[in-house]
Amino acid sequence: MTTVLDVQRFKEEGRRFAVLTAYDYLSAKILDEAGIPVLLVGDSLGMVMLGYPTTLPVTVDEMLHHAKAVARGSHQALLVGDMPFMSYHASVEQAITTAGRFIQEGGMHAVKLEGGGRVVEITQRLTSMGIPVMGHLGLTPQFVNQMGGFKVQGKTEKQAARILSDAKELEQAGAFSIVLEGVPTEVGTRVTQALRTPTIGIGAGPGTDGQVLVFHDMLGLTTGKAPKFVAAQRYVQEVGDGTFPGPEHSYSANGSAAPAKAPRDEVKYGSGV
Ligand code: KIV
Repeated sequence: MTTVLDVQRFKEEGRRFAVLTAYDYLSAKILDEAGIPVLLVGDSLGMVMLGYPTTLPVTVDEMLHHAKAVARGSHQALLVGDMPFMSYHASVEQAITTAGRFIQEGGMHAVKLEGGGRVVEITQRLTSMGIPVMGHLGLTPQFVNQMGGFKVQGKTEKQAARILSDAKELEQAGAFSIVLEGVPTEVGTRVTQALRTPTIGIGAGPGTDGQVLVFHDMLGLTTGKAPKFVAAQRYVQEVGDGTFPGPEHSYSANGSAAPAKAPRDEVKYGSGV
């Protein structure tokens, strides 16, 4: 079974790795059997599974419902549960209680939290009590209202430096990995090179240690032409040999090379959404 130590070892060995979201028993079983080392029960499920316009309405109970199903389908992968909006923001105590539910009820091995700042202290507390934390910086969908939409972050030097310093603080606090979403390729590479902690990119260029995709986006429009495990295995192979993501999946700081096909369509979850 993949553990957080394996994920950290992947970086030490320079081994690129693939992460996918999973939201139900069957997809988790398919992806687990295809050898995806890390499965994320993302709050993107609110958009691709439940039809919400953003991830903000997703509740802890909804997340746990899906987390339990994923845990029943998976035996090899490291399972990470995404803590939804307002489930860890009120206090460290609230964050501990919610994270505990993800582990005890949801069958997850780790949790993911968006942002820096106050989240650094929460990360430190959770890791100190045995709950591994995956950070998430750059385009953080739970901040959609503050960001003025799902926009690429880190385009100015000031913003890029902030992402880098948040990443260093999360590393210091014990995060076992950090998702970098919707940032220019140079920022993804710069943060990755500055950290010992593995980075996992989505719309962050080819320079991150791992890549993550929303399951539905990996499958395109799910035409069902190819057996699903073939798509998953091809994704693992392309992340491993560095052919994914290509320039058409990456952003530049001046915004001139917006991807023809975004890792998330229009930085939105799910091609069909
Ligand atoms: O919610 C999610 O699925 C995510 C990943 C795409 C990183 O946050």
